[in-house]
Amino acid sequence: MTHDISRRDAMLAAAAALAATAAGGARAQGGPIVIKFSHVVAPDTPKGNGAQRFKELAEERSKGRVKVEVYPNSQLYKDKEEMEALQLGSVQMLAPSLAKFGPLGVKEYEVFDLPFIFKDQAAFRAVTDGPVGADLFHKLESKGIRGMAYWDNGFHIMSANRPLHHVADFKGLKMRIQSSKVLDAQMRALGAIPQVMAFSELYQALQSGVVDGTEGVPSNFWTQKIYEVQKHMTLSYHGHLAYAVIVNKKFWDGLPEDLRTILDGCVKDATTYANALAASENAMALDKIRASGKTTVYALTPAETDEWKRALMPVHHEMAARVGQPTIDAVYKAAGFVPPK
Ligand code: LMR
Repeated sequence: MTHDISRRDAMLAAAAALAATAAGGARAQGGPIVIKFSHVVAPDTPKGNGAQRFKELAEERSKGRVKVEVYPNSQLYKDKEEMEALQLGSVQMLAPSLAKFGPLGVKEYEVFDLPFIFKDQAAFRAVTDGPVGADLFHKLESKGIRGMAYWDNGFHIMSANRPLHHVADFKGLKMRIQSSKVLDAQMRALGAIPQVMAFSELYQALQSGVVDGTEGVPSNFWTQKIYEVQKHMTLSYHGHLAYAVIVNKKFWDGLPEDLRTILDGCVKDATTYANALAASENAMALDKIRASGKTTVYALTPAETDEWKRALMPVHHEMAARVGQPTIDAVYKAAGFVPPK
C-alpha cells in the first residue's frame, strides 16, 4: 500500500513538474512562482534599481505568489547568453539594451543606434510610447519573447586614452561596441575599428589594451570603474542607450490572468521609476568621475559636434537596407528628426 501511495505521489509530482515546465516557469512544488531576472549592469544603476523595484512591487502585490530573483552584473549570463537563456526558459526576464536585438534576427531595433537621431529623451520616449514601440515588441513574439516596457538610460559618451575632440582622433582606435551593426558602421565612419564584446569583459579589455576605447553612459562608466582605465572622456551624446524589458512568452502565457495583470502593473511602475532615475544617476555618476581626478571630461564645442555629425550622418543612409527605411522613416517622424540635406 505504502508503495502504491508513494508511486502515485511520484506520478503526481512528475505531472506537476511537467505542467510547470509547460508554463516555462520555475515553480517549486507549492511554493511561489520564481522569476529569474538577469542583467549585465551593477545594482546601483538605473536598470539595476528598476529591476529591484520590480522585484519589490511584484512580491508585495502578488502577496508572495511570485518571487523575483534579480541577478545583476552578468552573474548568471553575459549579453549573448542571456538572450539564449531567456528563449530557452532558463531565466524568465531580462532588460537588454536595444543594441543587442540584432542577433535575434530583429534588425529593426538597431534604428535606435543611429547617430544623433534623438535630440533629447522626450524624442526617444515619443518613439517607444507610440506605434513604433508597439510594432517592435510585436516582432519579438515569433522569437518566443514578449516585450513589456522600454527603459531609458540617456546618452552615450566616448572614452579612450587619447583626447577625442575631432573625428581624426579616432583613427585606428579599437573601440568596443555592443552587437549592433549600426554601431559598427558608426565607429567605422569615425575611422575607428569596432570590436563587439560582452559588457562584462569591457574593464579587463580596456585595462589590458585589447581595445583602446568605448562608448557608454556615465552610470556604467562609474559603476564598472571605466574611468580607472581610460584617461579621456568626451561628452559627445552622439547615441542613446535604452533597454527593453522582456519576458519569456511561454512562461508569461502560462501565468494565471490575475497575476499577469498584477505583474503588468509592477513593470509599469518600475518603468516610471527607472526612467525618472536615468538623468539624475548619469549626472551624479559624471560628477563622481570628474571628482576621481583619474580622467579628463571634455565637452564638445558646437563646431566639433557639427564635425561629428557630418561624419556620422551617412550611417543613416548606409544602414537603411539593414534596418529598413520604413522603420527609419517612422522613427524620424515620431522623434521629430529631420535629416540634414
Ligand atoms: C553595454 O553593453 O554597453 C550596455 O548595454 C550595458 C547596459 O546594459 O547598460
